[in-house]
Amino acid sequence: MNKRRLVIANWKMYVERPEDAKRFIASLKRRSRLFSGVDVVVAPSYPLITPVAAALKSSQIKVGAQTVSAHEEAPRTGEVSAAILKACGVTYAIVGHSERRAMGENDELVAAKLERAVNAGLTAVLCVGEVERDPAGGHFTFIASQIASALKNFPKVHAKRLVVAYEPVWAIGKSAADAMKGTELREMSIFIKKTLTDALEREAAMRVPILYGGSVEPDNARSLIAEGDVSGFLVGHASAQVETFVEILKACRN
Ligand code: PGA
Repeated sequence: MNKRRLVIANWKMYVERPEDAKRFIASLKRRSRLFSGVDVVVAPSYPLITPVAAALKSSQIKVGAQTVSAHEEAPRTGEVSAAILKACGVTYAIVGHSERRAMGENDELVAAKLERAVNAGLTAVLCVGEVERDPAGGHFTFIASQIASALKNFPKVHAKRLVVAYEPVWAIGKSAADAMKGTELREMSIFIKKTLTDALEREAAMRVPILYGGSVEPDNARSLIAEGDVSGFLVGHASAQVETFVEILKACRN
């Protein structure tokens, strides 16, 4: 299993102004010794990518995008291609976040975005997650089908550029008390790894980092990482304040 820890700040629309983004990055860089060894990605909204990338120049911290277009041809008003993101310094792209799926992104579009992202040289963070738990275990079948459809045409040569973020929708945007427990997470993490071996070569599948997202906060980060058998986190609301984000990063040190 991939032992390196990876934590992604999904800022959503929490950080609004370039000056706030720059202040956050300056402060994160100043504290980087506190989380040495942890791979960190900050995913701001599109207009903040350039200032964040500039502030992160010559730092180990990477820039991510919260989504990416499924298209690469220019006449697509309002879309942002993987090539543009890459040219602006982005190396990671979140794909298929549940908030985007709720706005209409279907499995087919998610698969197309995933393919575009990795073909352009980005690392794609595929988000999967059930809306609710099913006492009969239907959530496992649901996750398996989300992964299978997203990876249907996935170029296997790019397996190294794949990350899977398991984000149960029912746990997003709440608090640590409502998040998943480490032991429940472990079961799902093992299941996801097994499911990945159906789509990728076994060795490649075992190397895909599995992240957890959904109300990760300083209070639960340590137990989730210790018990959950995940490589790290995709953090939403708690990533918008540098203090809480750094606490989560500290919890992820090996
Ligand atoms: P949350 O969001 O940490 O605010 O629950 C996580 C996510 O949606 O990626």
